[in-house]
Amino acid sequence: MCGIIGFAGREQAAPILLDGLARMEYRGYDSAGIAVRSETKGLQVKKAKGRLQVLSDLTHGGADLEGTLGIGHTRWATHGEPNDINAHPHVSENGQIALVHNGIIENYLEIKEQLQRHGVKFTSDTDSEVVAQLLEFHYNECHNMLEAVGRVLRRIEGSYAFGIICSDYPNALIAARKDSPLILGYGENGNYIASDVTAVIKYTRDVVYMEDGEIAVVTPESIDVFDSEMNPLEKKHSQVDWDVSAAEKGGYAHFMFKEIMEQPEAIRKTVSPRIRDGRVVLDDVSMTVDYVKNISRIFIIACGSSYHVGMVSKYNWERLLRRPVQVDLASEFRYSDPLVDENTLVIVISQSGETLDTMAAMREAKRRGARTLAIVNVVGSSIAREADDVLYTWAGPEIAVATTKAYSTQLVLMDLIGLYLADLLGTVEKSEYDAILTEMQLLPEKMSHFLEHFEDVQYFASRYFNHNSIFFIGRNLDYAMGLEGSLKLKEISYIHSEAYASGELKHGTISLIEPGTLVVALGTYAALFDKAMSNVVEVKARGAEVLAVTTESFKEKMEKTADSTIVVPDTHPILQPSLGVVPLQLFAYYVALQRGCDIDKPRNLAKSVTVE
Ligand code: G6P
Repeated sequence: MCGIIGFAGREQAAPILLDGLARMEYRGYDSAGIAVRSETKGLQVKKAKGRLQVLSDLTHGGADLEGTLGIGHTRWATHGEPNDINAHPHVSENGQIALVHNGIIENYLEIKEQLQRHGVKFTSDTDSEVVAQLLEFHYNECHNMLEAVGRVLRRIEGSYAFGIICSDYPNALIAARKDSPLILGYGENGNYIASDVTAVIKYTRDVVYMEDGEIAVVTPESIDVFDSEMNPLEKKHSQVDWDVSAAEKGGYAHFMFKEIMEQPEAIRKTVSPRIRDGRVVLDDVSMTVDYVKNISRIFIIACGSSYHVGMVSKYNWERLLRRPVQVDLASEFRYSDPLVDENTLVIVISQSGETLDTMAAMREAKRRGARTLAIVNVVGSSIAREADDVLYTWAGPEIAVATTKAYSTQLVLMDLIGLYLADLLGTVEKSEYDAILTEMQLLPEKMSHFLEHFEDVQYFASRYFNHNSIFFIGRNLDYAMGLEGSLKLKEISYIHSEAYASGELKHGTISLIEPGTLVVALGTYAALFDKAMSNVVEVKARGAEVLAVTTESFKEKMEKTADSTIVVPDTHPILQPSLGVVPLQLFAYYVALQRGCDIDKPRNLAKSVTVE
């Protein structure tokens, strides 16, 4: 979702701002803009609807804007359509203050009306412009930018990360955050603000994560951070330990393909440090045996693909733990008056650690007394910092909007936690525990083996890419996996697609099957393979074209019925979705490629969804 970058330094700002925005393109946006201040030209602002390239062309790569202080923004429209005017930065009426904003100002209409009564004229439809105008209003009263920012923050309601420059302040930019991420970067040629570290990693690894309510004054020489009462704060610095190449394509055509290929290594990194002497070790989790024994109920809360990980885990955990596990969409959970108390364990899954609904759901669970354990990929993100316990998926930076390696690492980490809890509860046989752990350590190798033959999936994609509606069917773990396969496909190829529990087909969906309809039949879950096959026969009988995914064990049986079959290696049944999902990711990728879609930046989607 929206991305912010800011620079106060000793070099020309505009090229750095454009470069930072380019590195955050993956977050999703529909317009972009930059504002730079120079001694001679004052505030110069350029904005453009569409891809960042348009803005870059418009400014000749930033060369047209002179100055060493600036802010930039990629916008994902919420208030007002995506166009040049609604793009950020927004400038106050007298042209002295420019501001970029992520988040939503809930009381903006009320403030807008009030300012209009004072004669202020607005040019855009956005909530963000209201903040720029309010800032000018207060600055005119107190003539002190920091004080004016403080007054504005006390007046507005909602979520925000701000970057602000003012023509009266040649060297300083001001940043503030609440419920929307913002980091501070300490570089050699100047200092930075950014929505995430990918924007500044080329220039510095020395970062500080801003907390809610904090305000920062960033100059080329220093960064001063204050709390909401303007008391100075000492902030803890973090070193970003991943390499800049991890966030670059490195010869691959798309980040998505690169990230699919990185999955074996990402799984290895997530699993290996957590298995010692044949046992699961979760060093960062401080749950006691007594606490675990008293857990009466478990909630798994997430959005999007992370929610689909929760769907797989529900099946696996109930089997392993013999405790009720409920998976909820974060946006539903938070408003459902959930039955949560101190004996409830709430697992929150989020790649970005910034998804607003997931964050709000976690806060709601904590408010009701639950203990929260977050599964997060982005180190230092908001959810990671607020949860009672956090376990990181070591997937590395994931840039493609459609998640692949983060999903896969979440899946294995949830399996590890499930085993860990089952062991504490004594609900898993030792032989089963050992078998799962052994197979889990073999997963990277088996996945790599499958990925060596990625062209097989490419072939099927070239055969089926022109279908307009595709159904994914499966039972139990295959159903949960189908949800993810279907989401991947629709996200990046824009083909209408649905995932159904096979048994549910005859209650409605089967009426949509007609001669030639493509059904992706998932038959990797051994315990229900025969039942799943009956459903394949049912759709075949109605003329469906069936592309099946199955395991080596069931290959022969499947090939007798399906039109095309993709075979993944066998593993322990609990882990089978980790292998089964890979052809579905590749299928979505190659179908989108055939259809000429913008794979890494699908329309209307954002990587990190920081609005409700
Ligand atoms: C967006 C992304 C999805 C992701 C979902 C949840 O919709 O496009 O890939 O699954 O948000 O994100 P999170 O960061 O909380 O896992």
